[in-house]
Amino acid sequence: MDLSSSISTVRRHTSKIAPLASAPVLFLLLSSLASTAEAYDPLDPNGNITIKWDVMQWTPDGYVAVVTMFNFQQYRHIQAPGWMLGWTWAKKEVIWSMVGGQTTEQGDCSRFKGNIPHCCKKDPSVVDLLPGTPYNMQIANCCKGGVISSWVQDPANAASSFQISVGAAGTTNKTVRVPKNFTLKSPGPGYTCGAAKIVKPSRFVSQDGRRTTQALMTWNITCTYSQFLAQKTPTCCVSLSSFYNDTIVNCPTCSCGCQNNITQPGSCVEGDSPYLASAINGPGKSSFTPLVQCTSHMCPIRVHWHIKLNYKEYWRVKIAITNFNYRMNYTQWNLVIQHPNFDNLTQIFSFNYNSLTPYGGINDTAMLWGIKYYNDLLMQAGPYGNVQSELLFRKDPSTFTFQKGWAFPRRIYFNGDNCVMPPPDAYPRLPNNSPQLKGSLFLPVIILWATLTWLLIYVQ
Ligand SMILES: *[C@@H]1O[C@H](CO)[C@@H](O)[C@H](O)[C@H]1NC(C)=O
Ligand SMILES: *[C@@H]1O[C@H](CO)[C@@H](O)[C@H](O)[C@H]1NC(C)=O
Ligand SMILES: *[C@@H]1O[C@H](CO)[C@@H](O)[C@H](O)[C@H]1NC(C)=O
Ligand SMILES: *[C@@H]1O[C@H](CO)[C@@H](O)[C@H](O)[C@H]1NC(C)=O
Ligand SMILES: *[C@@H]1O[C@H](CO)[C@@H](O)[C@H](O)[C@H]1NC(C)=O
Ligand SMILES: *[C@@H]1O[C@H](CO)[C@@H](O)[C@H](O)[C@H]1NC(C)=O
Ligand SMILES: *[C@@H]1O[C@H](CO)[C@@H](O)[C@H](O)[C@H]1NC(C)=O
Ligand SMILES: *[C@@H]1O[C@H](CO)[C@@H](O)[C@H](O)[C@H]1NC(C)=O
Ligand SMILES: *[C@@H]1O[C@H](CO)[C@@H](O)[C@H](O)[C@H]1NC(C)=O
Repeated sequence: MDLSSSISTVRRHTSKIAPLASAPVLFLLLSSLASTAEAYDPLDPNGNITIKWDVMQWTPDGYVAVVTMFNFQQYRHIQAPGWMLGWTWAKKEVIWSMVGGQTTEQGDCSRFKGNIPHCCKKDPSVVDLLPGTPYNMQIANCCKGGVISSWVQDPANAASSFQISVGAAGTTNKTVRVPKNFTLKSPGPGYTCGAAKIVKPSRFVSQDGRRTTQALMTWNITCTYSQFLAQKTPTCCVSLSSFYNDTIVNCPTCSCGCQNNITQPGSCVEGDSPYLASAINGPGKSSFTPLVQCTSHMCPIRVHWHIKLNYKEYWRVKIAITNFNYRMNYTQWNLVIQHPNFDNLTQIFSFNYNSLTPYGGINDTAMLWGIKYYNDLLMQAGPYGNVQSELLFRKDPSTFTFQKGWAFPRRIYFNGDNCVMPPPDAYPRLPNNSPQLKGSLFLPVIILWATLTWLLIYVQ
């Protein structure tokens, strides 16, 4: 919120002084445009995480609420080590107890005698409990270590809940104050949450569908993601190749960072280094900071798109995802790929597929993810650190071509993060005279040519 308002201020100012068009002004303008462009995800324009507080019961000094986070993002999930939700109490509220979640710190409860609250902090931070929590400390949708699936990939696991007993709070819907300043970490930055809005109380239908109950009061908070806020450097890049040209176009150099032995020794490790094992377990081991294999691109993830075969009516692509990060197993990874031929995808091997249609009728965006227990886990860098699949597309003769890089993807996201593409002018090019690529035309042309030649000779 703060960021976007400051950006629009910058923009207003720059447009006023635009006639002076000096280099710094231009730079400001460009960078503000770039940052607003990143804050909005064109492939999932309505994606958000909605947090719902349902007050289920008033107590002598407060209330009991069930807090549920719904991940309404089509392809962005929250993976281990999971979410962390924070807020600031409006008054002097405390948390007496929690089920299915806990605060990371208790804070100073010295003003209490007898019963000691679970948390007395003005700005508590809550995390999920781990799988295997005793049943009497669980509620529905809890205890998954803070992992929340994306809406498309696994809607049944796209929510996470905990129950909270609040004390020193209002005890009616007139006196209760909604918490402020919500923050959602995943666990890094990236999400911005709006203010809590009091909405119509939630309704709950009993399992047999014969009775409906409702919350005493409900408020909602909506959080949206921005890759720009999340991190300055990309985490993924794309390389390309084709059967019709030997050139393999690698990820752009320094896509995710540069190898710099002088200022940042140890920013990456060689795959065959004898120090590899100690580096993996070394400083930062548990901090989830990537430890990448040394490459020219320095990305933790590379996606390779290979145009493999050309049939008369179909063409075939091979996709491989390689993990260069020694410190991360990517669970429930996903890819989002934009290519105009996805509306005629005929077959996909060993990945799940769902079409995303952000703009009504245009069906050119696919979400791909691994098959459960088969390849939904992308293992850490090393011999098993890759997954692959092949796609079979039906050619639409009015649009299909190998010319001008048409057969390469327009855009790829890994786990919701935009991957750096090679510049279009570097794409593998068709050799100048490539008769085998005329596809279905090739054979008739040869026959015609042979017939004509034969006729000419015969006539002479
Ligand atoms: C959040 O996502 C849901 C589901 O896509 C949508 O209905 C709702 O309007 C979104 N909320 C906001 C504030 O964008
Ligand atoms: C508060 O409760 C009263 C009834 O006790 C109800 O009429 C009113 O609509 C409620 N207000 C809100 C904001 O839920
Ligand atoms: C909101 O929370 C952030 C991070 O916890 C904190 O830096 C900021 O001061 C808070 N703002 C208010 C008004 O409490
Ligand atoms: C509040 O959130 C719940 C759960 O996401 C949703 O079903 C409901 O429509 C939301 N209410 C409003 C007014 O946005
Ligand atoms: C950094 O060191 C690695 C091996 O230690 C070496 O292969 C690489 O060329 C060096 N890079 C630079 C930019 O000096
Ligand atoms: C990845 O998973 C394998 C097998 O489950 C495990 O041995 C390894 O320690 C894990 N690596 C990381 C970085 O968690
Ligand atoms: C998009 O095209 C694919 C492949 O033909 C098809 O399976 C899918 O149902 C289409 N999706 C929509 C929303 O039209
Ligand atoms: C490709 O898909 C579009 C939209 O689904 C359809 O209109 C068209 O006929 C298909 N083309 C082929 C060659 O199947
Ligand atoms: C293969 O593609 C590269 C990159 O566009 C180009 O420089 C090269 O000439 C192409 N090779 C052939 C045989 O056309």
